[in-house]
Amino acid sequence: MFEKRPMLTEDERRRALDIAVEIVRGNLKLYTYSMQNHSSIGNIYPQCANDQWTCGFWPGEVWLSYEYTGNDVFMYAAKIMVDSFYRRIVDKVEVDHHDMGFLYTPSCVSAYKLTKDLKAREAALLAADQLISRFQEKGGFIQAWGKLGAEDNYRYIIDCLLNLPLLYWASAETGDGKYRDIALRHTATCLANSFRDDYSTYHTFFMDPKTGAPVRGETCQGYRADSSWARGQAWGVYGLALSYRNTGERKYLDLFEKVSGYFLSKLPEDMIPYWDLIFTEGDEPRDSSSASIVACGFLEAADSYEKLGEKDKAEEYRILARKLLKALYDTCMVENREDGIGLILHGTYSKKSPYNTCTPEGVDECVSWGDYYWMEALMRLSGAWNCYWWA
Ligand code: GLY
Repeated sequence: MFEKRPMLTEDERRRALDIAVEIVRGNLKLYTYSMQNHSSIGNIYPQCANDQWTCGFWPGEVWLSYEYTGNDVFMYAAKIMVDSFYRRIVDKVEVDHHDMGFLYTPSCVSAYKLTKDLKAREAALLAADQLISRFQEKGGFIQAWGKLGAEDNYRYIIDCLLNLPLLYWASAETGDGKYRDIALRHTATCLANSFRDDYSTYHTFFMDPKTGAPVRGETCQGYRADSSWARGQAWGVYGLALSYRNTGERKYLDLFEKVSGYFLSKLPEDMIPYWDLIFTEGDEPRDSSSASIVACGFLEAADSYEKLGEKDKAEEYRILARKLLKALYDTCMVENREDGIGLILHGTYSKKSPYNTCTPEGVDECVSWGDYYWMEALMRLSGAWNCYWWA
């Protein structure tokens, strides 16, 4: 697949990281005591308070910059942000939702892994407690949004697969299996309902609050309930690869392959996905962030295949990741601060369609997680990165 597409070279990888780190360094004065908004406006991120679901990605970029350069200036800035994340979970500022993993894995699990910061450890464990407080016995899932138990919010979303590594980490760290058990039960529910027969995905899935039975798939940010939102598919790809890594359950890796196949089959020739995979040509906006996320998923799975002795598959996914990253490098990478102060252009946060329920924002812009996963994929390619999302 995509036989003629070029791969990112080692020189390009290093150049891309050098550029990224320079932009991150230049941004520290803007976003150390403030956070970075979820998406840019004209490729410039507004500052914001630490109250969005996306605030963990920027400190994640700062930790990656610290790892790449060894420069303490990144560590000092990231530790100031750890204090902010500690206060956020202690004071319960905008934490009544499931995105505790997106918030606390790149900001605090990273800090603890890299510097043994005990405040970061405590913050991440409190976040894991907050996440499991949203588990619904009836249906066996972590409720994504809204008042717990409310019928109009009795659903989970595929994105949550990326919140579960925080739970695997919390069990490994404390020796208490309750976090892991909930992660496994949520994943079982997700596998039972969120993947269609052709391995496309529902963004959100409603359950019956009285019986716990599956009710229906719906979308919030995708084009339509029966289409496949590009980022939802990408969360599925990476989430399954990480689920395998954190549990050793082969069925997750087998499903990863199928869900990846669907994603690849809907890519246009230039490999940058449209915001919803129902679009395969034309002028609809792209979502470059989905390509960054999938590249991380492919590299994660490649390592697993390598360990299983399945070298051909490992090689296949490494090549595909390098092709996706080369496409991002050629068409989306910010080269200097005049082009913007994010790292990757042409992301889409939420695009309104006649059928979805999202608030339109961040269309054809830089998005915080697109930048973070771009850097993560580049770091993964070094072959020696100790992943924040592993238990
Ligand atoms: N988790 C929400 C999003 O990916 O936009």
